Amino acid sequence: MTHTGPAEVGGRPPHAELVAAARRVRANAHAPWSGFAVGAALATTSGAVFCGVNVESVALPAGVCAERGALAAAVAGGHRDFAVLAVAGPGAQPSPPCGVCRQALAEFDGELVVLAAGETGEPISWRLDELLPDAFAPQRLDR
Ligand code: THU
Repeated sequence: MTHTGPAEVGGRPPHAELVAAARRVRANAHAPWSGFAVGAALATTSGAVFCGVNVESVALPAGVCAERGALAAAVAGGHRDFAVLAVAGPGAQPSPPCGVCRQALAEFDGELVVLAAGETGEPISWRLDELLPDAFAPQRLDR
């Protein structure tokens, strides 16, 4: 990813680049059962970017969403501090994360910015804690 311009402050990729990365990686989705290819790009607070796609299974519940693929790749890379997640689905309508992915992301930081995009047009955005208010958060287990 090439980082240019003032939005680069802190070494983080601009939101438009993150959305572009999520749109690009959709090409690698394995979605033969739904035909709904999703891409995700997760930026860490240090500026690293990890991508994921949905990987479906003929045994339908064994499939996994793009967001959790990106999250798993980032955690496997040694990262736990996330700044922005971009998700891109098919069509013109922005594709927001499902409830399971919202919960999986809430494991880390509720201030995560989530950008949802379609194939074209402007993304919409929220903070994760707006998408999943009153989350069952790690503090609930008091560890
Ligand atoms: N999907 C995602 O990858 N992310 C979401 O947040 C919503 C749904 C995938 C799961 C399934 O492979 C396909 O989209 C249709 O639900």
